[in-house]
Amino acid sequence: MNKKYQTIISTDAEKSGLVANWETLQRIFIRPENEASRIALVKYMEQILFGLHDFLQKHVGITREAGLRQLSDRFKNSAIGKHPEKKLADVIQGIIEDIAPHAVNVASPYFIGHMTSAIPFFMVHLATIVSALNQNVVKLETSKIVSVLERQVLAKIHRIIYDFSEDFYDFHIQRPESTLGSFVEDGTLANLTALWVARNRCFPPGPGFEGVEAEGVAAAFRAHQVDRCVILVSRLGHYSLEKACGVLGIGNGNIIPVDIDADNRMDIGALKREIAVIRNQSPGVKILAVVGIAGTTETGTVDPLGEIADVCRTHGVHFHVDAAWGGPVRLSDKYRTLLNGVEKADSVTIDGHKQFYMPMSCGMVYFKDPQAMDSVAYHAAYIARPGSVDLGIRSLVGSRSAVSLILGSAIEIMGRKGYALLIDHGIETAAAFAELIKRRPLFELVTPPELNILTYRIFPGPLKQEWRSTGLEKRKQLTRKLNHINITVQRMQREAGNSFVSRTTLRRSGADDIVVLRSVIMNPLTNMAVLTDILNEQEYLYHRLPET
Ligand SMILES: Cc1ncc(COP(=O)(O)O)c(C=O)c1O
Repeated sequence: MNKKYQTIISTDAEKSGLVANWETLQRIFIRPENEASRIALVKYMEQILFGLHDFLQKHVGITREAGLRQLSDRFKNSAIGKHPEKKLADVIQGIIEDIAPHAVNVASPYFIGHMTSAIPFFMVHLATIVSALNQNVVKLETSKIVSVLERQVLAKIHRIIYDFSEDFYDFHIQRPESTLGSFVEDGTLANLTALWVARNRCFPPGPGFEGVEAEGVAAAFRAHQVDRCVILVSRLGHYSLEKACGVLGIGNGNIIPVDIDADNRMDIGALKREIAVIRNQSPGVKILAVVGIAGTTETGTVDPLGEIADVCRTHGVHFHVDAAWGGPVRLSDKYRTLLNGVEKADSVTIDGHKQFYMPMSCGMVYFKDPQAMDSVAYHAAYIARPGSVDLGIRSLVGSRSAVSLILGSAIEIMGRKGYALLIDHGIETAAAFAELIKRRPLFELVTPPELNILTYRIFPGPLKQEWRSTGLEKRKQLTRKLNHINITVQRMQREAGNSFVSRTTLRRSGADDIVVLRSVIMNPLTNMAVLTDILNEQEYLYHRLPET
């Protein structure tokens, strides 16, 4: 045995029989230690695939009752043992029996609070294959066919958004110089990539200036005689845009929130007014981009994308659509028109781990112009050489896994129709849920669903009556009271662990902030019986509040 790699065996390790040495180390790179471990690992794989969620459903609900304090007390030892403490089979068993029950059972049909839900069981197979192959899509030399396949997947999703001609896709799909889109970690990085491209195209190289990417924002502002750079997005924009503006040197204080209309969509008149003010009164201000949202995080609403696109075209401004949530609605024949106008966007964000039902995490950004990402191209001597097919040339991310293999396979397994059924179910169930809420006197529907997200709140009958007959000051008091009720009931329901609805605070101009319960209907097993149970539980909890 190579002495260099031999570890000193402690008395404890000798007793448990677990030792780290060169021989055992080599074995784990080849196969399980012995036949018994092989059988155990296959059994656990089966349990992960088919038994885990059933077990959680039956015995745990949303999550097992245990305080965070109590849980964190168990995870305070920061020392790494010198020798192995457990075999893989024991580790897996420990995760299944001890960790999973305290994680959150996002697969439960009663978990309707966030944009995270059950995934089809085959996703686990696909994710396992991705780990087993361990391709690195940064370059062809570590991914080969996967890079080519990824280009195909990007073209398929690009086509869902832009629907260009067959000739367009034939030409660009495998052309190394064209980039239809890029996989990144998540929606946050997709938005960042879109604004990165928008920034670089806004401050391109010119005489005596090498471009913002090379010289930085201060030099770009000087070269282009700009004092300030802004982006405009509705008040319901996702906070990832703030991060992006921070990272890109634009400054997150330079996001101009555009007012929303009564339906929580960007008020197009307000957008035009904001732009007119900037154009007429602030010649040193450059509008970097306008962002439309296709499925806002809080209310699920879709901005008037076509109209925003027209405004952007008139003013020559980059139009980005954050369709992290709503993008896959384009797959539904029934509801695809809700996203009309997205095809006019210069760039579009879509999350695979949202309505493509992929495991965490898969962000994507698409560009109408296959040359747009040239403005963020990087080369290195050891990879991503000029002219190569390496996908790392035009990508915010360096090393990354082959999530495109999961999405590409999922699309083949589901077909457009499979995804459409999921989208339609979400939208239609949310609409029926809204009607149910309207019929229950204890509740008030606050934002009706356009897609599959809605907000509502507990608003007891007597308080509704009081609200109608009272003035501004008293209404402020009532809002505070209602906010307190809704926060408390949401918390109680979460802690009870049978179901989960999230909460958020809606800001409305000229009125007080209101706390609402937010539900996201994406699990195909969430039906009206489940939703009735959830309302019943909230009603039950409300009646248990002190002094109501
Ligand atoms: C509209 C919208 N954009 C962007 C994001 C960011 O996505 P991620 O959490 O994948 O970074 C979200 C997340 O919920 C979102 O709802």
